[in-house]
Amino acid sequence: MKKKPEKESSSSTDQPGNSTAANYHIPVLLRETIEGLSIQPGGVYVDCTFGGGGHTRAILEKLGAKGRLIAFDQDEDAKRNLPDDKRVVFVPHNFRHLHRFLRLHNVLAADGIMADLGVSSHQFDEAGRGFSTRFDAALDMRMDQRQKLTAYDVVKTYNELQLHKLFEQYGEVTNAKTLAKTIVQVRNHVSVKTIDTFKNALREVVKGNPNKYFAQVFQALRIEVNDELGALKEMLQQIPKLLKPGGRVAIITFHSLEDRLVKNFFRRGSFDEPEGNPFINEENVNELKIITKKPVEPSEKEMKENPRSRSARLRIAEKVMMV
Ligand SMILES: C[S@@+](CC[C@H](N)C(=O)[O-])C[C@H]1O[C@@H](n2cnc3c(N)ncnc32)[C@H](O)[C@@H]1O
Repeated sequence: MKKKPEKESSSSTDQPGNSTAANYHIPVLLRETIEGLSIQPGGVYVDCTFGGGGHTRAILEKLGAKGRLIAFDQDEDAKRNLPDDKRVVFVPHNFRHLHRFLRLHNVLAADGIMADLGVSSHQFDEAGRGFSTRFDAALDMRMDQRQKLTAYDVVKTYNELQLHKLFEQYGEVTNAKTLAKTIVQVRNHVSVKTIDTFKNALREVVKGNPNKYFAQVFQALRIEVNDELGALKEMLQQIPKLLKPGGRVAIITFHSLEDRLVKNFFRRGSFDEPEGNPFINEENVNELKIITKKPVEPSEKEMKENPRSRSARLRIAEKVMMV
């Protein structure tokens, strides 16, 4: 799958967003995810990425009075979308701490765990968050505003090689090396604290369509600032031990780097690529069984109604009964 920059928003507005619960985020692959989780009415479910709560609400509809749902989101803004429902507990932290917080809430094992990765439409549309190339604001991009590292810190302090690698790997920026070199040259005499100053300072380096180019640059910065791949790996590694036998995990990804991690982990219980790698331990016991042989993609209808869903891929696995 080619790494396209994530489509920014489901609302095509060019105005800074005043998002309400209703337009915070349109859930993607909703029916497919809920069906894939095969929900038990009395079960315990975890939504690792609550956001606007679209998936959470659909799970709650299938849960009975005894069911429970633990919803994680590291962005405080998501809290405003919480339903008034005693079955739900909100955890305002990174899902990399899944095990710790589930234990804190007396959940030893879950019947289903889901994650709908990346950024919400609200985060893209809220100008001040600094995720969107459409607005001028501080170069921020933190999902968790308690965190120190911002996109400005990355641009200001990373060395040329670090910048080159991150633009190449996380954004597939064609001239990542030139971009990194230019940033290092300009940052000492031009302040790149804001999105407009950053974009203007790099005008000469842009290749092709500037909107597309900066979307790739911003995607790379965002992945780095939020350590998105590191958090995903840590979360995946905890899943087999946190699922009950027969329990399901459903993960929606938005670019190939994430999808590859999920695919490999579901297949082999590790992140290693098999081909030609003599260090892969084929003896590794995998407690997960793949349910979706191929990733589930949105229908034409969904992509038309919600362009942000375009690059979504859903993979589902089940914890085996006995290994
Ligand atoms: C694509 S949105 C989820 C939308 C949600 N499924 C819905 O239907 O509204 C992703 C959300 O996950 C949160 N998020 C992303 N990575 C996270 C992480 N590592 N830990 C906790 N929350 C995370 C983001 O802050 C964002 O609100």
